[in-house]
Amino acid sequence: MRTVAQPGLAGAPPNFRFVRIGATSGIDADEVLEGLSRTQKSLPAKLLYDARGSELFNAICETEAYYPTRTERAIFLEHAGAMAEAIGADSVIVEPGSGEMSKVRMLLPALRPSAYVGMDVSEKQLISAGTRLAADYAELDVLAVCGDFGRLDAVSPHVPAASKRVAFFPGSTIGNLDPARAREFLSVLFNLVGDDGVAIVGVDLRKAKAVLDLAYNDPEGYTRAFNLNLLTRLNRDLGGDFDERRFQHHAFYDEARGRIEMHLVSMVAQKVRIANREITFAPGESIHTESSYKYEPQAFAALAGEAGFETQRLWTDAREYFGVFLLARN
Ligand code: SAH
Ligand code: TRP
Repeated sequence: MRTVAQPGLAGAPPNFRFVRIGATSGIDADEVLEGLSRTQKSLPAKLLYDARGSELFNAICETEAYYPTRTERAIFLEHAGAMAEAIGADSVIVEPGSGEMSKVRMLLPALRPSAYVGMDVSEKQLISAGTRLAADYAELDVLAVCGDFGRLDAVSPHVPAASKRVAFFPGSTIGNLDPARAREFLSVLFNLVGDDGVAIVGVDLRKAKAVLDLAYNDPEGYTRAFNLNLLTRLNRDLGGDFDERRFQHHAFYDEARGRIEMHLVSMVAQKVRIANREITFAPGESIHTESSYKYEPQAFAALAGEAGFETQRLWTDAREYFGVFLLARN
């Protein structure tokens, strides 16, 4: 890991630092081509989050249809005091996939941690959110780490010292990992926080299919634009010639698997060039771009248990749409 001079950091507050982990380009041609050569074509979901993708994602979060954000926010608003009490004093917060860093703000007044580490692949948003957070909380050390949270273990040596580490993973980002990878990631969090540490994890819960289908098909069309923006990004960053008009956003809840699947469906037979290769699509053939798993509370607690965590508290809303788990080492 190295500290990098970065445009936009010149006027940053003194309590803000920026580091980068891993490759600098942010997009790996081999990884993309490997996904597109599978029988069920797929792309890594993290590629959805370029600067435009993050803007569209933030717009999704404000829609009426996408209930998770406002439901989770309400849980934090109501229970921030109890969360802070359960965590205790002198903490440092580590948030993988930190986005706008808006949810951590709901914990700060009650928790008063000494430091915050946000990690994200979306560099522009990471820097702007991190500098704003540092400016608003002069007593808080803010470290912004640009990189894939698959490499979260490499962040550990750089986390400022405190009596207690808190892994903060809201937004149901855990649901975007398939259960086996979610379990592995929880193990990484378990190791990261150490003996006295805890994790706060936001998890979207199972519910009626109609509610879920609408959440990933907002009438404003932000989710559609978010999904299609991936093709625009591939064209720009890997010299592709995808025609966005020939692909359709398709997202649906698979009740048997308990997950939303999001796809880009080719409406016609076509050949697309990308990274100097040709990819063939049959009519109706799709690229799987993201999944979002939904859990029963006990099932998530069991998964966390397999990673060594004990569920100390579960905060939820009246409809039990969303759960915020406080996990501790047992
Ligand atoms: N934690 C924030 C944002 C959630 S959205 C909140 O709850 O409000 C998910 C965030 O994770 C996005 O900002 C996205 O850019 C980031 N992200 C997705 N995949 C990632 C990966 N593999 N590594 C690092 N960040 C990732
Ligand atoms: N973590 C969010 C979720 O699973 C990410 C997300 C929001 C998303 N909208 C999406 C994932 C649309 C796939 C498709 O809800």
